[in-house]
Amino acid sequence: METLMWACLLLVLYPVNTITLNYGQERNIHLKETAEDGLEDLFVSHNQHNWTVCGDNMCKCNEINQAFCLNQGHKLNYIPRFEQNITYLNFTGNYLPHIDNHTFTNITNLKLNYLHLQTDSLHTCTRNAFNGLNFLRTLSIRNSTISKTGLMQCLSGVTKDLQTLDLSYIHFHPPLNLDLDESMNNSKIKTMYIRNIDMTKYNHSKLSTLKHLQSITILKSYIKTVTFDYSSSLRTLNFSYNKLSEFPKFCVHENAYFTNLEELRLDHNDISSVYPEQLACMKSLASFSINNNLIFRIESNTFSNLPNLNVVSIAYNGKVKRLDEFAFNSSSLKQLYIYDDNTYFDKNHIHTSLNAFKYCSQLETLRVSSNHFGFTTNPMFDDLFGNLINVKSLSLSNCGLTFLPSFIPNYLDKLEILWLNNNNIKDLPEGYFNNFNHLQIIQLKFNKITTVESNTFSLQFLQQLKYIDLSENPFTCSCELLWFVNFLKTSSIRNVFLHFPKEYICDSPPLFKGKQLLQVRLSERTCAITKQVRVIIISTSAGILLLLLTISAVYRYRWNLRYILYMARFQHIRHQRLLNGGGDYKYDVYLSSSDTDFDDVIYDELVPRLEENMGLRLYIPQRDGQGNKIDQIISNLDASRKVILFLSDKYVEDGYCEFEASVAYNKYINEKRDLMIVVVLREIGALNVTKTIHKILSVDNYIKWGWDDESVELFWLKITAAINNMDDLIP
Ligand SMILES: *[C@@H]1O[C@H](CO)[C@@H](O)[C@H](O)[C@H]1NC(C)=O
Ligand SMILES: *[C@@H]1O[C@H](CO)[C@@H](O)[C@H](O)[C@H]1NC(C)=O
Ligand SMILES: *[C@@H]1O[C@H](CO)[C@@H](O)[C@H](O)[C@H]1NC(C)=O
Ligand SMILES: *[C@@H]1O[C@H](CO)[C@@H](O)[C@H](O)[C@H]1NC(C)=O
Ligand SMILES: *[C@@H]1O[C@H](CO)[C@@H](O)[C@H](O)[C@H]1NC(C)=O
Ligand SMILES: *[C@@H]1O[C@H](CO)[C@@H](O)[C@H](O)[C@H]1NC(C)=O
Ligand SMILES: *[C@@H]1O[C@H](CO)[C@@H](O)[C@H](O)[C@H]1NC(C)=O
Ligand SMILES: *[C@@H]1O[C@H](CO)[C@@H](O)[C@H](O)[C@H]1NC(C)=O
Ligand SMILES: *[C@@H]1O[C@H](CO)[C@@H](O)[C@H](O)[C@H]1NC(C)=O
Ligand SMILES: *[C@@H]1O[C@H](CO)[C@@H](O)[C@H](O)[C@H]1NC(C)=O
Repeated sequence: METLMWACLLLVLYPVNTITLNYGQERNIHLKETAEDGLEDLFVSHNQHNWTVCGDNMCKCNEINQAFCLNQGHKLNYIPRFEQNITYLNFTGNYLPHIDNHTFTNITNLKLNYLHLQTDSLHTCTRNAFNGLNFLRTLSIRNSTISKTGLMQCLSGVTKDLQTLDLSYIHFHPPLNLDLDESMNNSKIKTMYIRNIDMTKYNHSKLSTLKHLQSITILKSYIKTVTFDYSSSLRTLNFSYNKLSEFPKFCVHENAYFTNLEELRLDHNDISSVYPEQLACMKSLASFSINNNLIFRIESNTFSNLPNLNVVSIAYNGKVKRLDEFAFNSSSLKQLYIYDDNTYFDKNHIHTSLNAFKYCSQLETLRVSSNHFGFTTNPMFDDLFGNLINVKSLSLSNCGLTFLPSFIPNYLDKLEILWLNNNNIKDLPEGYFNNFNHLQIIQLKFNKITTVESNTFSLQFLQQLKYIDLSENPFTCSCELLWFVNFLKTSSIRNVFLHFPKEYICDSPPLFKGKQLLQVRLSERTCAITKQVRVIIISTSAGILLLLLTISAVYRYRWNLRYILYMARFQHIRHQRLLNGGGDYKYDVYLSSSDTDFDDVIYDELVPRLEENMGLRLYIPQRDGQGNKIDQIISNLDASRKVILFLSDKYVEDGYCEFEASVAYNKYINEKRDLMIVVVLREIGALNVTKTIHKILSVDNYIKWGWDDESVELFWLKITAAINNMDDLIP
């Protein structure tokens, strides 16, 4: 009985799990570009080199001929001598307020090609001060308080072979009017890098003698207006992080100022529009970037006249409300980035043409993440992107997608990388991934995928992947997911599941919420039972359990219950008898014995002697009983003056006998009458000594039955005495 109960209990509660981990389900995503960037300083890790002290013990030199004289302050107020082979000098945090044609005499004999002067309190400079440094290729002046004339005089003496000029963190008031024609006449400079120098106006004519200038970068210099001039050498122009509010004029009647410009970056300005005719002249342009501006519209054929254009980036504009039809018409465009532009791609926003991406079929990379596709239907997707059959990398992350669009498997045969993270995609349709032969990366992190069917991915498909990321989805850890859990536990290609197991977490059922998939104990056996059956089993088990508990309680107290019931019924009879002085017993002795014992011993040996020889009126249930046994026991025990209990193992195992014993014992207690004569027929096994039997045996000296003549005589002696003891009231 107990075992069965526990079995039921286990069935109901299995597979309980009480460990819950709180795991952030949603995370704020920041796709905004970090605002800071610019020139990365030459990477010099001081630990990787064998340093030697040099430069009058105030500098350090290493085996790749670099000298660093750092932060000596006023102590180092001149340029010291170095070994012949030093080619690079970083002179930072020292004291060099005035530079003239003597300053560098200690190093004119070196083949120095890199000089970096930073935070040296530089204030004035005389003409031709750098004249002696014939091998100098890169000059960097940073963080100084030099005046405009001072700077121009410095530059005027710079060797004609200088190739890179870096001027950063120099404050001018009023803003610098950069005029290098004056000072760097016929310089061979190729790269200009200017950062954090106040310069509201930029006039390229003032650089017109720099016939070799290829790249100009001016960052964070508050440029508001620019005037360009013709240059065929310029390849790269980078005016990011300035204050431009209009697209600069690069074209004059279809003629380009910079006929060979290949890269144009105008990120982080305030430009609100760019029209086709403003770009059309730049036939060499390959890469165009206008991120983080205020562009609100891309007109038809904006880029169609740029035969070499490869990359267009119009991200983070936050306001792009309108993409006209054929906006990206281009026979050469390979990469298009229009993410985070707050653009809506659905019918409620009619300004976005579904033909915007027509005629740019060379496109290989398309990133339209962080726009609005929440209401875009499959036919609309087909219209928008269906012709982009050469796309290898597609990102529709954070677009409010609620389903996997069908154009992806239907048209993008060459797809290699697919980013669909941070959407609300719920299902992975069967067979969706069947026809991708080149797909290598699938990013589906942070969606609403609850389960993965066993036929979603073929094994062969998974083997071809670099990775697939299904982390941070609200998995339902039910039996549907069992195969997946088992697969991830056992398969050798589980490594393709990025962030497994740490970020593959159950969201439901509540029992498993927050637990890793890998830790969930779903067994084949449990899952063989369907959900409904489980519900039924759980409810019936609970019912059975309750029933069992009731039954066991009733069983345990059965005799007490019955006794209470019957006592209530026979109360008035007893009351009557007491009134008559207790004399009117129907029987002298009630024989309580098990059926086996009765047949074996009692009927032949005892009954004749008691009845015939001693003339006693006996009540023997086995012989005289009829009708309801319980009733008989109660009423006849009640009508008997004495009861002989013949104890043995058989007696104890017999329910009715136990009942008789307990009724007799209760009468003994309640009526305070010495009515029990206890005969131990056979020794009772220790296990069989129940509570009632124990109580009975301890009440009185019991009589032992014996088989030899002597024992038999002793028995009769004792039993006669007990029966004849009419004074049966307990003292
Ligand atoms: C020169 O040293 C200073 C101080 O360590 C450092 O900030 C700067 O980046 C270095 N410059 C170059 C070009 O390595
Ligand atoms: C530093 O010197 C040691 C011994 O002189 C040499 O083995 C090691 O390669 C040197 N390290 C570098 C980075 O040159
Ligand atoms: C540079 O010159 C010094 C002294 O002439 C010499 O000890 C050192 O080995 C040289 N370094 C290299 C890399 O040649
Ligand atoms: C050259 O170096 C020596 C010490 O090495 C120093 O005394 C002298 O002033 C330096 N010359 C110049 C022009 O800085
Ligand atoms: C330095 O310039 C002065 C004139 O400003 C000139 O007299 C002197 O000869 C120059 N010295 C050297 C070493 O070039
Ligand atoms: C720039 O110079 C000032 C003093 O002129 C100094 O306090 C500051 O630390 C310097 N900044 C850098 C980046 O070197
Ligand atoms: C530049 O130098 C040339 C001679 O080398 C000279 O004729 C011309 O006037 C100079 N231009 C400027 C702007 O100084
Ligand atoms: C730019 O510089 C050229 C040459 O010095 C000059 O003729 C022109 O007026 C300047 N333009 C502006 C807008 O300042
Ligand atoms: C131009 O500026 C951007 C920042 O907008 C920077 O990332 C890029 O490296 C710069 N390019 C060059 C050639 O300096
Ligand atoms: C796309 O651009 C090409 C080249 O400028 C042009 O000839 C063609 O008409 C354009 N297509 C459409 C549909 O406007």
